[in-house]
Amino acid sequence: MEIRTGLFLGDSKDVLKQLPDSSVDLIVTSPPYADQRKGTYGGIHPDKYVEWFLPISAQLFRVLKPTGTFVLNIKEKVVAGERSTYVMELIIAMRKQGWLWTEEFIWHKKNSFPGKWPNRFRDSWERLLQFNKSKHFNMYQNEVKVPIGDWAKGRLKNLSATDKVRDNTKNGSGFGKNVSNWLGKESVFPTNVLHLATECNNKNHSAAFPEELPEWFIKLFTKQGDTVLDPFVGSGTTLFVSKRMKRHSIGIDITSEYYEMVKSRINPAELYLIEPVKYGKTKPQRRYAIR
Ligand SMILES: C[S@@+](CC[C@H](N)C(=O)[O-])C[C@H]1O[C@@H](n2cnc3c(N)ncnc32)[C@H](O)[C@@H]1O
Repeated sequence: MEIRTGLFLGDSKDVLKQLPDSSVDLIVTSPPYADQRKGTYGGIHPDKYVEWFLPISAQLFRVLKPTGTFVLNIKEKVVAGERSTYVMELIIAMRKQGWLWTEEFIWHKKNSFPGKWPNRFRDSWERLLQFNKSKHFNMYQNEVKVPIGDWAKGRLKNLSATDKVRDNTKNGSGFGKNVSNWLGKESVFPTNVLHLATECNNKNHSAAFPEELPEWFIKLFTKQGDTVLDPFVGSGTTLFVSKRMKRHSIGIDITSEYYEMVKSRINPAELYLIEPVKYGKTKPQRRYAIR
């Protein structure tokens, strides 16, 4: 199967308009967080974040297939001793835009650096918000099963009578389980917490994904030959992982330095590039050329 990798240089708000309706199976991305990276690629003030993001998410809604999924990695920072609320405001605004907020996964950063603050502990997790256009989206749950674990050896050895029927918990929570269902099982479905180390290798990008992050969602929400989009592609992690997993992919980044870096790491024969055309002294406007 020939796998296509597309790379665009420009602002996602504009570039996304060139992609056809309902053409993408999975969007997985990490946009700049509010005010986080002023020193590198600009920051958006938390009060302006929703206003900045909504035109982009409107385009993402248009290009995503009805069966597709959008995974948004984001985390609010602490401002003047208080957590900012822009992520919550964004979720509410995106729901009004038509998105279903289906799930929230947690990325537990296993290797977060120790530190000391007077009124809180170190940040060790980020949000992975799942949005969909419909309740009937593609999800290949068996692809992310995990080993059942050592607990099963002891717990399933001698089953009591209540272990063999659905037993409701005594605390009235409504949760019930039939322990014998796990007999003979080697693997089970995972939880919605992903335990992944942050990317420490020097990828020449200050906020690169660990490869396992897009990989896990690509396994869960796509199959070979599907199309994955990352509208804030940075060092290109989503593209490289998609290619390895035989998915077509499209990446967009506004920073030419990252665009050039990704371009140099993909076989030119497999890559199609779209970048603003520079006509003499005129500023690069919204004109794009396919090279
Ligand atoms: C958090 S980084 C993404 C890192 C990426 N996940 C990786 O693995 O390298 C966010 C990226 O968004 C890009 N960016 C910021 N504003 C943008 C915009 N309006 N359109 C496209 N890219 C943008 C930045 O240049 C930066 O590379």
